[in-house]
Amino acid sequence: MFVSDETINEIIEKIDIEEIIGNYVNLKKTGRTLKGLCPFHAEKTPSFTVTPDKRMFYCYGCQKGGNIFNFVMEIEKFTFPEALQFLAQKAGINLEPEAQEDVSEESKFKKQLYSLYDKISTALNYILLNKPEAEKALEYLKNRGISQSSIEKFQLGYIPSDRKWLYNFLRKKSYSEDFLSQTGLFSSNYKEISIFSGRIIFPIFSKSGKVIAFGGRCLDNSLPKYINSPESLIFKKSAELYGLNFAQKEIRKNDCAYIVEGYMDVIAMSQAGIENCIAPLGTSFTEIHADTIRKNCSSVIFVFDGDEAGFKATVRSSYICEKANLDCSVVAMQKGEDPADILKKQDKEALKNILKCSINSFVFLVDKYKTIYNISKEEGIKDYLNKLFAFVVISESEVRRSGRLKAIAEVLDTDYASVYDDYLRYLKKGDKEISKTAALTMGIDKISPELYLMLAVIDNYDYFYMVRNELSIDDIQDKAARNIYIILEESYRNNIFSLESILEKIENSGLRSLIAKKLSSEEFSINSKQLIDDSINVIKLKNLQAKRMQIEKIIAKDNGSDPYQLEKLIAEKLFYDKEIEKLKGTNGNNV
Ligand code: CTP
Ligand code: MN
Repeated sequence: MFVSDETINEIIEKIDIEEIIGNYVNLKKTGRTLKGLCPFHAEKTPSFTVTPDKRMFYCYGCQKGGNIFNFVMEIEKFTFPEALQFLAQKAGINLEPEAQEDVSEESKFKKQLYSLYDKISTALNYILLNKPEAEKALEYLKNRGISQSSIEKFQLGYIPSDRKWLYNFLRKKSYSEDFLSQTGLFSSNYKEISIFSGRIIFPIFSKSGKVIAFGGRCLDNSLPKYINSPESLIFKKSAELYGLNFAQKEIRKNDCAYIVEGYMDVIAMSQAGIENCIAPLGTSFTEIHADTIRKNCSSVIFVFDGDEAGFKATVRSSYICEKANLDCSVVAMQKGEDPADILKKQDKEALKNILKCSINSFVFLVDKYKTIYNISKEEGIKDYLNKLFAFVVISESEVRRSGRLKAIAEVLDTDYASVYDDYLRYLKKGDKEISKTAALTMGIDKISPELYLMLAVIDNYDYFYMVRNELSIDDIQDKAARNIYIILEESYRNNIFSLESILEKIENSGLRSLIAKKLSSEEFSINSKQLIDDSINVIKLKNLQAKRMQIEKIIAKDNGSDPYQLEKLIAEKLFYDKEIEKLKGTNGNNV
């Protein structure tokens, strides 16, 4: 591909670097430069700078820097030709035809996907608003209090109940069979059957407003309630936040984001005039989400359902957000109620009023845990403290830490010094309390490490890829854990995950209720990645030790008749010794 230096310079000159980078980083002016939190590494104080005069950016933290081409290539993972296309368009410059040709297969495919998703989204929105077969869906949305303008803004749609409809529709638009089979929208066994049918469709937009996936809700109580389209080249679930394309500007303006649980809640909030609202896709909130949010504002307010699952999500999300240096507050909701319900049962004013009463997350937890643990008993106090200390430790400021310890002392009606004492003891124990590795290796809980890991990963499905990368089914001995592993692997391959569908596939009712029980506590919500990492290592270690023991037994029995054989066995034992040492090394760092 040939593009002249003049063209490149022209693009660099015409582009408003502040505007383009401003789409990714919340920039604040300080003299001739602009400053913000670096989008390329996690940081809490801004070291990323843009100098519009020089048309350059530079991060003092990670030392990344360069011109606008370097920036978009790094952040969008563009190849040079892709960056060129992208920036030329922004600069309003027409490229020579030969410069447009040379794009990789992958970026061609991405482009086709974007255009496909966009077409589908437009068509389904049209169907919802105009076709008789969508009347029920439209009625459903109206019943839930969703207005016409929300349907338009969020481009909601309806996909006909004929499971071959989408295939036929797209084939008529001359998409090839081969391409359609690679889009993830159709069953892997039956190429004409789409994964969505008879559902209300929520297009999921990227931050820049392109449709990258769909969520689909059924119109009745059938399961699964929601289906999401699978991950693809253009969609990584754990990195996306529903509504961010609409909300980003308001989030920056208010320096605050509301975080709700689902699609309907984001829409309800928007309808009530609260536009700085987003939701993770599915229930789990990740470090990537927190990082994205931190780059736009400094505080978050959680508005989760007042049920157990909502509480669990609050604990988990606050922990992750506080670690990312976000100020966290909570709007305490009634059990079984979320913003969408309030909009439906009452009105927008009621919703707005409820949102006025937000309290600091820690204060919320101090109160809430009091109702969970019996703090008139020693055991209860221990559990109570352990939960709260986890939130004291992560706080960056000394002032805030001691404020939190004081708050705990008040609730327990004791003096600051004794709470501080317990806190020091807690610190000495290190992160073991939090990561639970100690409990795990000592067999407390009476759950095998394998089963423990499977439970943790059902609760944190986004990390299942780590498990399958590190452990194969043969590494799992526990029967119940094997059962779960197989089910998770199947849903991983089909790219569909929901807790309901996992539970449905588990035949043993004891195991099912164990899962339900464990998952309704917030046991696996804190430090989950570490927890899963540690568990994987514990299992690997256990397996290696078993293998070494086996070899040792064989060596002990060996009568030395074949020195070559013996040598081989010893080499094998040494190999295991080394592997075990290596693993212990990594565990040592973690725990
Ligand atoms: N979710 C999902 N798959 C499921 C269930 C839930 O992806 N099987 C996601 C959806 O993004 C959903 C969010 O988790 O919006 C919250 O789930 P839930 O509270 O069960 O649903 P609501 O948002 O309350 O949905 P609705 O109000 O439509 O009942
Ligand atoms: Mn709801």
